[in-house]
Amino acid sequence: MGNLVDAFIALRQELAVPAAMVAEIALRFQEEMIAGLRGQLSTLKMLPSFLAKPNGEEKGDFLAIDFGGTNVRIILVELSGQGRFSIKAARSFPLKDRQKGYDYTANTASGNELFDFIAANIEELADRHGRYSLGHTFSFPCRQTGLNQAILIIWTKEIKTQGVEGQDVGTLLQAALDQRQMTHVVAKAIINDTVGTLLAAAYSDRWADIGSICGTGHNTCYLEPCSPLTGKPMIINMESGNFDKIAVTEYDRLLDQASEKPGKQRLEKMSSGRYVGELVSIISSQYGKKGLLGTGFQQPAGLVPLGGEQVAALVADNTPGLTQVQEVIEGQWGASGSTLAERQAIREIAELVINRSARLVAATFLGVIRHIDPELQQRHTIAIDGSLYEKMPGYASRLKAALAENLAAKASLITVVLTKDGSGVGAAIAAAIADQ
Ligand code: BGC
Repeated sequence: MGNLVDAFIALRQELAVPAAMVAEIALRFQEEMIAGLRGQLSTLKMLPSFLAKPNGEEKGDFLAIDFGGTNVRIILVELSGQGRFSIKAARSFPLKDRQKGYDYTANTASGNELFDFIAANIEELADRHGRYSLGHTFSFPCRQTGLNQAILIIWTKEIKTQGVEGQDVGTLLQAALDQRQMTHVVAKAIINDTVGTLLAAAYSDRWADIGSICGTGHNTCYLEPCSPLTGKPMIINMESGNFDKIAVTEYDRLLDQASEKPGKQRLEKMSSGRYVGELVSIISSQYGKKGLLGTGFQQPAGLVPLGGEQVAALVADNTPGLTQVQEVIEGQWGASGSTLAERQAIREIAELVINRSARLVAATFLGVIRHIDPELQQRHTIAIDGSLYEKMPGYASRLKAALAENLAAKASLITVVLTKDGSGVGAAIAAAIADQ
């Protein structure tokens, strides 16, 4: 166990993001924002959304698609103005179902098949007697040339569907709607989920100017006061998951090398729900290989990646014998007969990974705040959606603590809110703005 103690001293240091590092990352993030806005080389894509903030007067019934991962949601939203809305109907469906024998996220499926499947599901919800304006939240990096044109730059979140990268997602959806003669559904706007989250928050909160997703994926958008495109305020989707001016560990390298797109989405791979469980597994696996953990953790093919919920169970375990940790490692890794010291080690690995994620994300928010309000003279609301922020024990408080540490006396100017359903409601607001 002596070795394990030493190994942890090193690991704590490797995964720590002390206050000085938070400040340093914020600065580098701000530099990347400026370079990206100027069209210079940057890891931040700084993509225009063609939207500013809503005025709160957007009203009516709208259809919204929320496509951000392996599940798609279609909702019918009624907007009543000033932040009021209600969801009148909703339909969720997976893009892959082993039992039913389909997987529209695999490289065996085409973009046409994928969007036809989505159109078929819209058809179930939108009856042909009505007429619907539709907003589409498509949560992947897209180069927009207008509110309703969005060319997918690259798939993220390990999606591999053929024939979508480099294509206009608006055209693909429209073709699928046309194919089914769904003239009663008119696609009006395509937005990123971060933009949807910001729109939904700004519908009722005039100070909201940053929107972020801390869920399966990670990304942030903000209201740029002076868009290089128009000289006016515009929401910019930074695709901040691709930011990479951060020191990585050997574990991050292993994860990256085994991923679908090595070298890309480095911050996302260090912080989002899709990857935190994988990092916990990789670190534990390496500890097994080095003999720091017992035979239960020594599997030739490595330990299977944990899901976000399992990581949450690890960090939430306060039982004296760490029985929740035991359940996870036995259930997922088959590591039976673990010692309490091993279970403590696994729990601490999970905590270190989660803490790093929250503090890295906070550092990027600080970079944005310093860009839009260098002297920090007014209030700002950061609207966040996503399972990691909402459900991971301690995540929100760690993130807020990192902000407060850095902002000191001015910390009260920043409010961080959970904005649920931003992708759906935000898409409806975008369609309403397009209708105006
Ligand atoms: C995508 C972003 C998205 C984020 C959160 C990332 O993988 O590239 O466009 O906003 O996930 O869903």
